Amino acid sequence: KKIALIMGGYTGEAVVSEKSAAIVAQHLDRDRYEVHKVHIYPGNWYLEDEKGEKYPVDLNGFTVMKNGQELAFDGIFNIIHGTPGEDGKLAGYFDMLDIPYTTCDALTSSITMNKGYTKAILSGIDDLYMARSMQLFSNLPDNVPMVLDQLRLPYFVKPNNGGSSIGMSKVKKEEELEEALKRAFKEDKQVLVEEFVTGREFSIGIYKTSGQVTVLPATEIISSREFFDFEAKYIPGVSEEITPGRMDEREVERVKQIAEKVYLKLNCKGSVRMDYFLEKDTGKFYFIEINTVPGQTETSLISQQVRAMGMSLKDFYTDLIEEMWR
Ligand code: DAL
Ligand code: MG
Repeated sequence: KKIALIMGGYTGEAVVSEKSAAIVAQHLDRDRYEVHKVHIYPGNWYLEDEKGEKYPVDLNGFTVMKNGQELAFDGIFNIIHGTPGEDGKLAGYFDMLDIPYTTCDALTSSITMNKGYTKAILSGIDDLYMARSMQLFSNLPDNVPMVLDQLRLPYFVKPNNGGSSIGMSKVKKEEELEEALKRAFKEDKQVLVEEFVTGREFSIGIYKTSGQVTVLPATEIISSREFFDFEAKYIPGVSEEITPGRMDEREVERVKQIAEKVYLKLNCKGSVRMDYFLEKDTGKFYFIEINTVPGQTETSLISQQVRAMGMSLKDFYTDLIEEMWR
């Protein structure tokens, strides 16, 4: 079967996507699949072959003319972080063309890309907590006093549709808020201001095959920086990551149940990764966000978790691919 491994995207996470794609390409089962690398950039969608030759994609049918023959694909392995791969735009496009893909459908992708709306949908899940937050839709001078009035410092200020912590800041003092909002609004039209939860951070991969949901072992993140920012995420050694993280058996069981409920409530497909804080004094799990196209780079957490489960990346990716045709 012919697979298009799509990578790149329209955001600052394109570099991450290219790295993720390189890892995925290395581990795909070449006896089963014919893999084609397709790069998707603004106004520039192209297939690149082993020799580095580039061929434009015909957007009418997501096909490529190569050596006088039309190449069409049986499925898409989507590894584009951020728009248009993670927010449902490409999902909608491939739905229209009736080409299956490995990631969540258009609706789930567009909701989950928005951290604020995701939290709104998840409120009410048993045993799941969420930090108090405010969603801002434009950068008005009134925002600063309003946030200070309604939320308790310190805050995380995040582009609401962002990824890889780009444009994100931790605000400890009142006078830092304005600058943080400006930074986040540079990346996005919406910004989420969230109260900081004191505790330990865990990230959990989950996927579904043949109706069976598997929760991977959670990774605990100990960042040597102020938070798990871009550098901590992608420069080896800047953060310490322990898989499986330090939780007692009951905590492991609890977070597994929560994660599965979140996956099902959001109607996820394929492999996703969720981030939680385990609050220090109360032992409550706080949902932070979900990533429906989680990184697969050398330093990414999902690959660590798959290995910790005793599974090869090759088998894991085969599961994700086979699932899209079921
Ligand atoms: N947004 C990055 C790629 C991740 O979640 O891993
Ligand atoms: Mg993210």
